[in-house]
Amino acid sequence: MALQKYTFRIQRSIPVQGGGVQTKWQDFPVESEPNVTVLTLLEEIKGQQDGTLVFRQSCRSAICGSCAMWISGRTRLACKTHVGAVAKNGVVEIAPQKNQPVLKDLAIDIRPFFKRVHGITPYLLDGPEQNSTVTKSAYDQVNHVTQCILCGACYSDCTMAEVSPAFVGPAALAKAFRFVSDPREGRKSQRLADLCQPSAIWSCTRCTMCVDVCPKEVAPMEAIVKLRTRAMARGYTGSAGAKHALAFHEDIRRGGHLNEFTLMMRTLGIWETLKETGTALHLAKKGKVPSPFPHTVAGVEELRRMYDHLEQFPIEVETKAKEAVPE
Ligand code: SF4
Ligand code: SF4
Ligand code: FES
Repeated sequence: MALQKYTFRIQRSIPVQGGGVQTKWQDFPVESEPNVTVLTLLEEIKGQQDGTLVFRQSCRSAICGSCAMWISGRTRLACKTHVGAVAKNGVVEIAPQKNQPVLKDLAIDIRPFFKRVHGITPYLLDGPEQNSTVTKSAYDQVNHVTQCILCGACYSDCTMAEVSPAFVGPAALAKAFRFVSDPREGRKSQRLADLCQPSAIWSCTRCTMCVDVCPKEVAPMEAIVKLRTRAMARGYTGSAGAKHALAFHEDIRRGGHLNEFTLMMRTLGIWETLKETGTALHLAKKGKVPSPFPHTVAGVEELRRMYDHLEQFPIEVETKAKEAVPE
């Protein structure tokens, strides 16, 4: 394969006195075949052009998770990414992972990420809900989640982590799903109750970014959705997120459309809604006032029949993770 010319545009971050980093973009020319990995070319730059360039790598085989960095628009493993696949007009932009503190150049401080993972108690607990038999279906449903290499790519591209650093994050929640789903776990209900606290399962916006960027097909968002379903099935419906989901369910079943006029009140309660009076008035001024009168769309009977059918014969949603028989 013929050599091609590329420009590696790398975000350099230099620590400054008093904390934080100063950033600048720096271009490095490289010549390479398109099927060479970004990591190999970063090593070449470090060896031949600038020995001060800092980045993490170890296994070079998409196993250790240490080379995750932002490459051409999203977070990827540098050792799994071919330069030809990500160059845009010959340019490859590379920056450290997002939503994480940067130490130097492309190396982030991984401690906050691992603190989140430790926060979900990532080991089995003794308790009354323990069952020593691990069935094949129970194993199947967590198998894909255990493929997580804790690279942090999902957290880096998570839209909720970007606006709310308190968010537990997709990797930790996928791990929580692994323990909630394990028959040997003794405190499933307690775990689900904890996961309904603010900044956990109900804070996910279901943007799918974590599913798209995960290099190991863990599909964290799907695990989060299943955690929500299980939490509600066990009666944990007091959080704003659960109330919001129930309001959607009720409205669509009743009339085939959402009653946005009362949605906020049913989600947040009257006092929290009153605090948003200013926003409501602002929207009203712009003519964006939902009708206070519930109405029913044509064909709603058909919709209700579908609801009835689904409640009687629940279908398994097509996901990467198989839902096991309820324990
Ligand atoms: S789906 Fe949820 S957890 Fe995944 S990236 Fe989006 S907000 Fe984050
Ligand atoms: S879920 Fe995927 S993207 Fe997230 S840390 Fe694990 S392997 Fe990386
Ligand atoms: S170097 Fe280990 S995952 Fe890339």
